[in-house]
Amino acid sequence: MDASLPDSLSAAPPRSLSAAGGRAPGAAAPLIEAAGLAFSVAAAAGPVEILRGVDLAVAAGEAVGLVGPSGSGKTSLLMLLAGLERPTGGVLRVAGRDLAAMDEDALARFRREHIGIVFQAFHLIPTMTALENVAVPLEFAGRGDAFDRAEAALRSVGLGHRLGHYPGQLSGGEQQRVALARAVVAAPRLLLADEPTGNLDRATGAQVMELLFALRARLGTTLLLVTHDPALAARCGRQVRMEDGRIVGDDGGAGMAVPAA
Ligand SMILES: Nc1ncnc2c1ncn2[C@@H]1O[C@H](COP(=O)(O)OP(=O)(O)O)[C@@H](O)[C@H]1O
Ligand SMILES: [Mg+2]
Repeated sequence: MDASLPDSLSAAPPRSLSAAGGRAPGAAAPLIEAAGLAFSVAAAAGPVEILRGVDLAVAAGEAVGLVGPSGSGKTSLLMLLAGLERPTGGVLRVAGRDLAAMDEDALARFRREHIGIVFQAFHLIPTMTALENVAVPLEFAGRGDAFDRAEAALRSVGLGHRLGHYPGQLSGGEQQRVALARAVVAAPRLLLADEPTGNLDRATGAQVMELLFALRARLGTTLLLVTHDPALAARCGRQVRMEDGRIVGDDGGAGMAVPAA
């Protein structure tokens, strides 16, 4: 199954039925398939159940706005999808891979090839320039054109004039644009964004979101966006709501998938 997956987004697979579990015969498998997904952590008073049976199927090309109160498990779900945490129960397949069955090296490779992440805090490496920060994931992947691609990605977020700046020399909005360039530089199949404008003022946040949606449209990337902003959630074709470690609402994707450019 893995071998049949395209490595680039040049030909995004057709959108299949978005409702969890419902798939037309012969339709492409969803990019994200979670069933009964559980995640708990050990604590002094006993295990803390953070995700309590999440069922979610997301087709390639969909944009999903993930909403819900603080503490409902949104960030934890993103961590599992990125392979940064491991499920403690249930099934989780992303891009056809069974994440629970992969070792750390395989997960790191999977992340590099398929996942882009933007966090609320920008998480740039302070001792590296903007260009170096964006080139890092490509260098790890052994790509000889890492710096050329990093420069192109920075230009695409309007930072062609800030290549040699260190994060400390950039505004918050500029730092988040660097983080965005880093997230998309390897043309990931799945872009995960966790309240990416939470540390920015309203106008700057709006600019970053415009960029995020524009990049996603150009690349045809599947997007899972955690946000507290109802307008942003509504801009995603589909809205999913979490409460207390479960999905309690899913509009099923009434909106249109963004076609690959
Ligand atoms: N490593 C951890 N150890 C203990 N509890 C955690 C840990 N990570 C998250 N939690 C708890 O899990 C719940 C869900 O957290 P989180 O996924 O960050 O929610 P959200 O992003 O929706 O605010 C919260 O109650 C949080 O305190
Ligand atoms: Mg969170």
